[in-house]
Amino acid sequence: MAVEETLVLVKPDGVARGLTGEILRRIEAKGYSLVDIKLLEPSRELLAAHYEEHFGKPFYEPLVEFMESGPVVAIRIAGNRVIEGFRALAGTTDPTTAAPGTIRGDLGRDWGLKVQQNLVHGSDSPESAARELALWF
Ligand code: RTP
Ligand code: MG
Repeated sequence: MAVEETLVLVKPDGVARGLTGEILRRIEAKGYSLVDIKLLEPSRELLAAHYEEHFGKPFYEPLVEFMESGPVVAIRIAGNRVIEGFRALAGTTDPTTAAPGTIRGDLGRDWGLKVQQNLVHGSDSPESAARELALWF
């Protein structure tokens, strides 16, 4: 067993659309454990640190503005290979092409928005998970 922890964020679109419960349901149904959870309005400083790998990309500024547009739910979850497993539950970045059965594929919308409003974030590697969990918790 490779028990890991990862950071999940329910992004402002997910909170505003009342999908936090549905997202938590899918996490729990998969058998992952909730370790910590909080609702917050992230500062620009926190978002700049979280998204430092994307600084300078065309979608960076719209992404940070989107993430500042309302409350976010930050969740620390644990489970066997949960970093990869949650990314699979979330689906690919663009909700239009994310597979049915995934959070983004079933529930995500894009409709020509400036940035992908794709409901959730999940850390993409053990290094990212450790770094991001230390930022948010
Ligand atoms: P995340 O970090 O949120 O789990 O998503 P990801 O790994 O699938 O995507 P990533 O490449 O890390 O991008 C971070 C977030 O930036 C927005 N984005 N928009 N071209 C675009 O419009 C675009 N590309 C990225 C999305 O919100 C994406 O989740
Ligand atoms: Mg990412």
